Amino acid sequence: MKGIKARWGTAVGIFLMIGMLFTQTVDIAVADSARYIEFAAADSVEDADEAAAAMGNVIAARQKAKEDAEKAERQEKLPQVDAAKPMIALTFDDGPSGAVTERILNILEENGGRGTFFVVGYRVGSYPSLVQRMIENGHQLGNHSYDHKDFTKLSVKNVQAQVADTQHAALGALGDEYAYGLPAVVRLPYGAANSTVKAAVGMPMIQWSVDTRDWQTRNAAKTVTSVLSSARDGDIILMHDLYPQTAAACEEIIPKLRERGFQLVTVDELFAAKGIELKPGVMYFKAR
Ligand code: NI
Repeated sequence: MKGIKARWGTAVGIFLMIGMLFTQTVDIAVADSARYIEFAAADSVEDADEAAAAMGNVIAARQKAKEDAEKAERQEKLPQVDAAKPMIALTFDDGPSGAVTERILNILEENGGRGTFFVVGYRVGSYPSLVQRMIENGHQLGNHSYDHKDFTKLSVKNVQAQVADTQHAALGALGDEYAYGLPAVVRLPYGAANSTVKAAVGMPMIQWSVDTRDWQTRNAAKTVTSVLSSARDGDIILMHDLYPQTAAACEEIIPKLRERGFQLVTVDELFAAKGIELKPGVMYFKAR
């Protein structure tokens, strides 16, 4: 009996050992396959990312081509500038301001004219549809600082922050579709400059040749007289799209300037037509 027990014992022992080995093997296999699944998954995630990136590029490229075509189509529809005929750049500072800006856009567009709007950064974010309309219809957006500080009283760093913060605000309002309308010219608050400011701004600085003083008179008739008594080819006229009196003046000025044969162009169009290259750090008062 002793012998049989011993043989049984050996058999059970062997069985248990095989069982343990088997269990261990299974454990290893499970661990391996888990590692394998993990690894394989990592691989396919990378592949998926690459594929998504490639697809994203294709979509982005198609989107860009579509936007470029739309932009070209919009610009083709705009009245073209005839360099041989007289032209004036109407400029509007300190906005946008809702209803007044809208009235000025309406009268410009009814008369096939364009204007340049020197916006302040703190306001521009409140009027995305107005600034998008400006760019859509061929007007120009300019940078008039973030909150209208006199740059001659600021450090170089703060001048640059005034300009950069306004660019960011404008970009936010324009969105991707109209990002090409981001300001590329500055109008200095109060027109105030010194050599430090000129070096710090980093864009061409557009001053003016006709100052309507509309902000001071708040009188439509005086603003009308101020423009119509002095308007000449190449002028840059300063107004503010803040006052209803200025909008009322524009409703008279714009058709009359058109009757006199003036093209109403943006600042960029004015200098391009006159063959004058706008350079950063330089101030411009008129184009003639
Ligand atoms: Ni101003």
